[in-house]
Amino acid sequence: MSELPVVAVIGASVLDVVSEVDGFPEENSEVRALARHSGFGGNAANTAAVLASLGHKTHLVSALADDWVAGQIVRQLNHLGVDTSACRIHTGVETPASHILINRRTGSRSIVHFRGLPELDADALEALDLSTVDWCHFEGRSPAATAKMMASIRRRFPAIPCSLEIEKPRQDMDQLFEHTDVLLFSRAYAESLGFAAADPFLVAMASKTRVRPLVVAWGEQGACAMDDSDAMISSPAFPPDQTVDTLGAGDVFNAGVVHALAEGQSLSDALIAACQLAGHKCSHSGVV
Ligand code: FRU
Repeated sequence: MSELPVVAVIGASVLDVVSEVDGFPEENSEVRALARHSGFGGNAANTAAVLASLGHKTHLVSALADDWVAGQIVRQLNHLGVDTSACRIHTGVETPASHILINRRTGSRSIVHFRGLPELDADALEALDLSTVDWCHFEGRSPAATAKMMASIRRRFPAIPCSLEIEKPRQDMDQLFEHTDVLLFSRAYAESLGFAAADPFLVAMASKTRVRPLVVAWGEQGACAMDDSDAMISSPAFPPDQTVDTLGAGDVFNAGVVHALAEGQSLSDALIAACQLAGHKCSHSGVV
């Protein structure tokens, strides 16, 4: 069997401290958790973990602190096969942390995130040997530095396809669009722009950028994409019998799209495979 494409994922790694509860608690109440676990999180780390577990040689480029928490995160990711050797280590700062409540009745996840760690800077890819990489997936964070990293890949390694995740509404994010081959939007981003459905959102995005495919995941309604000829493609969701944990489902979906497209599958197959993977993720805790 031929080896799967080598993927580099660039973005955030954080500590997720998760408590699973039987219903969302009232403010100023005290409840017992049904389960508690902690470990790596962050969109890029989650996506990298899924890609590695699908069999890709996967590099993660993240900013990390030099505390023991980061050591634990790195050990977990390495154990799953993610190569973290190109991560940036910052001294004297703490690993960013998310305190998360998973409502077991619905699978909803509520996140309180703290970050005091610098973002990746423009030369963060220097520690990675890009000549060995077949695909780069970026989590759209600090736009200026990310734009420089993406532009430098275009210039030095024009054959490497890039995908870009746009999850949160951040200023100047659209300046990144021109540097990517695939745009992966979140429902939250579309809704922040006032869209209540996937199709009109993609049509609006298509008028802003020439990038195709454009992809947006829409939770329990599945996902939509616009292809090279501006045709709209969709996949239903594949919810499990019982949804117990949706944390990181979007990151899993993105890994599914990257995996399928990097392997040369059609956009339609990629969408279905990614929805299946994300649906399966919701049946258990953790992204892998
Ligand atoms: C899920 C996630 C969590 C993390 C949070 C950061 O998508 O990456 O693992 O705590 O989002 O925003």
